[in-house]
Amino acid sequence: MSADLSRLYAEHLATLRARADIALERGGFAHLVVPSGTAHYQVFDDRDYPYAVNPHFKAWLPITQAPGSWLVYTPGERPQLIFLQPHDYWHVVPEAPSGEWVEHFDIRIIRNAEDAKQHLPRNAARCAILGEAQSALGQYGAFAPNNPQPVLDYLHYHRAFKTPYEIAMMREATRVGVRGHRAAERAFRSGASEFGIHLAYCQAARQDANDLPYNNIIALNEHGAVLHYTDRDRMAPRQARSFLIDAGGSHRGYACDITRTYAADPGGEFQAMIDAVDAAQLGMCAQVRAGTDYKRIHLDAHLALARILLDFELIHVAPDVAVETGVSSAFFPHGIGHGIGLQVHDVAGFAASDSGGSIAKPDGHPYLRLTRVLEPGMVVTIEPGIYFIDMLLEALKNKGLGPSVNWDRVAQFKPYGGIRIEDDVVCTEGDAVNLTREGFAVGFT
Ligand code: GLY
Ligand code: MN
Ligand code: MN
Repeated sequence: MSADLSRLYAEHLATLRARADIALERGGFAHLVVPSGTAHYQVFDDRDYPYAVNPHFKAWLPITQAPGSWLVYTPGERPQLIFLQPHDYWHVVPEAPSGEWVEHFDIRIIRNAEDAKQHLPRNAARCAILGEAQSALGQYGAFAPNNPQPVLDYLHYHRAFKTPYEIAMMREATRVGVRGHRAAERAFRSGASEFGIHLAYCQAARQDANDLPYNNIIALNEHGAVLHYTDRDRMAPRQARSFLIDAGGSHRGYACDITRTYAADPGGEFQAMIDAVDAAQLGMCAQVRAGTDYKRIHLDAHLALARILLDFELIHVAPDVAVETGVSSAFFPHGIGHGIGLQVHDVAGFAASDSGGSIAKPDGHPYLRLTRVLEPGMVVTIEPGIYFIDMLLEALKNKGLGPSVNWDRVAQFKPYGGIRIEDDVVCTEGDAVNLTREGFAVGFT
């Protein structure tokens, strides 16, 4: 860690301690106890899934591979890390904690998971224990996570506001993603299959399923119309017309979430539509400002995308009519984005306050994941799209809205699947900071 980063990290910890102090007081608890989590096994099998650390654990510690460990925080005291380093020759044993962050913790090394108990607070009833049920393990009956709602409400609500350290981590995650995206575009242009592009991405990002914040979406041609397409054909199509890639990267537990769409033909109409969505997307990113209701950005995005649909003669009705009748939703059937940070879809997207309550989604927009008013420190994705999805377009016909759509034009665009452009954007006191554009503007290797 550089001196600057150590300072940011120390300040980040101070923020977490202050938040935990209030959260514990709200819940009436004396200690915050966070198990890092344990491996999950496939049903009737001894194969485990990639381990995913408890986000409450990695919020405090830049450690993402330490199952069976615990964080204990008692207001006024140094936080304690109970770190499991088992005697194990089957798996890689987590390295002994090192780095400048260790000076902020009292660290107890344990060799058996059960030994954590000797270091956990004596009275479990006074602990807010945040985690998944299975973290309890049989032996820890008393330390089964209780996930008290007032504590979670407070911590989750405030997690939307990233500390400068967290923004720095997300910039690093963006470097990872941008490396991968650049290699993926090269692979697409050289005729690789979806599988080949995925491998090129992982190679350049130097990450795979163990580290990536979500499963890569690597879609050629019509596959771009499947919102969460993760099949990855092994063979390249005879003709690759278009490429939609939604792939991220992680750094010390923080995620980036990036989507780009490319056309094989730089002079064609599909490229022109990508350019139009790209320009509209930049306008939406500029709407990320303190005080702006994120729902507003989502609803405005519908209008902007309907305008593009009209410009490209895909619809016959005015943008406001397309939005009102639900025609725009058939082409743009997901939310404009979500909060991002420790999780690619960060928690508390609907939180009305730090003591509970939720903010409803606008009627007719069930897939929006964030309904809060933006404030400085929030990081959100802005990810408009236009897709040609048979199922949704057919449904328009069934609703009597067939005449709103230019079906000949739909048929022309269908072989390209769809377009999505996604950036991660920081809300500040002034203009938004677009981590993704910033990342692409720099020549990372
Ligand atoms: N990569 C998933 C999403 O964009 O939300
Ligand atoms: Mn996203
Ligand atoms: Mn994405």
